[in-house]
Amino acid sequence: MESMPVPSTEALQAALATVNDPEIRKPITELGMVEAVDVSDDGRVRVTVLLTVAGCPMKDTITRDTTAALARVDGVTGVDVQLGVMSDEQRGALRDQLRGGAAEREIPFARPDSLTTVYAVASGKGGVGKSSVTVNLAAALAEEGLRVGVVDADIYGFSVPRMLGVSLPPTQVDDMILPPVAEPGGVKVISIGMFVPGNQPVVWRGPMLHRAVQQFLADVYWGDLDVLLLDLPPGTGDIAISVAQLLPGSELIVVTTPQQAAAEVAERAGAIALQTHQRLVGVIENMSWLELPDGTRQEIFGSGGGQAVAESLSRSIGADVPLLGQVPLDVSLREGGDRGRPVVTSAPDSPAGTALRGIARQLARRGRGLAGRKLGITPTARV
Ligand SMILES: Nc1ncnc2c1ncn2[C@@H]1O[C@H](COP(=O)(O)OP(=O)(O)O)[C@@H](O)[C@H]1O
Ligand SMILES: [Mg+2]
Repeated sequence: MESMPVPSTEALQAALATVNDPEIRKPITELGMVEAVDVSDDGRVRVTVLLTVAGCPMKDTITRDTTAALARVDGVTGVDVQLGVMSDEQRGALRDQLRGGAAEREIPFARPDSLTTVYAVASGKGGVGKSSVTVNLAAALAEEGLRVGVVDADIYGFSVPRMLGVSLPPTQVDDMILPPVAEPGGVKVISIGMFVPGNQPVVWRGPMLHRAVQQFLADVYWGDLDVLLLDLPPGTGDIAISVAQLLPGSELIVVTTPQQAAAEVAERAGAIALQTHQRLVGVIENMSWLELPDGTRQEIFGSGGGQAVAESLSRSIGADVPLLGQVPLDVSLREGGDRGRPVVTSAPDSPAGTALRGIARQLARRGRGLAGRKLGITPTARV
């Protein structure tokens, strides 16, 4: 019987190059994670993969993906994955590589040449669906093919990881934090809740909050993002101001309900843009109505709040602030949030799913165009 050819080192390397680190989302070969590959005459491959940190929560995924990739190579009869841990030196080199030589503690989204659109989602008060809207916009934008990150900056009411089905903690590589990734769509998520043990209340003062937000933005390895969404705490507090200072290019989206009382406080949250010189993208009205089985709409919280906020903000800032959309009350939205499957992916054609996807499409179109982008060109006289 003719024996199978022994697989070449090149073929094994090529196979390993298809394995991505689940958090960093880059090939393990590029990240210096493959320490050694040996193949015996009978086609058994032994590979040593270095984890960034001991007890990395992703080690099973890495082992599985590595085994599967090598097993597909012609002539491989078996795969044996050994796991090791990077030395301090190797970890430092990886961190430097990921930072791309950038100065430490720099916020990538604050650079003038950043291509990431940053939306800060604000509301006047809690419970209006700000987090639900944020996670659904994130998931829907990811479905549109954009690379999306979410910062849960609602330090007192963090809920974003659960709503996106993320339960793993971030991995820390030295002073760099690798955010967990939500499936599907690969949305990167970071939340203050991930740094608080158990369900303890967070009691932080302004300067500490400012530092926490700064850390989120500077120490987290986000990679290249098209869109970053920040779920702000309700109201016009310290964090909204910190975000505006740390990310002067961030733009505000205001979420409100149709109720007049809610609309008035939402206006105040939006009017902060006047002081911070942030651009106001528009208003989203949530819980607009309940669609009854006979097709009629019951306006549980009244009507007109979203439109009223949009008009009033347009007047006060002297520019058009559109009502981006109205999201109805919908059981599937609430269920999706509880199950960690945003309604835009779990029930895309439901009333709320349809409305939210419509809003996300407007944002995606906006982001891709040049509208509002500083082009860095100066007009010249025409002859
Ligand atoms: N359109 C909607 N239909 C049904 N339930 C909703 C809707 N929007 C929000 N909810 C529910 O209302 C509650 C509050 O929403 P949440 O997004 O946490 O608000 P916020 O972040 O503004 O405090 C959650 O339980 C959420 O599932
Ligand atoms: Mg919330």
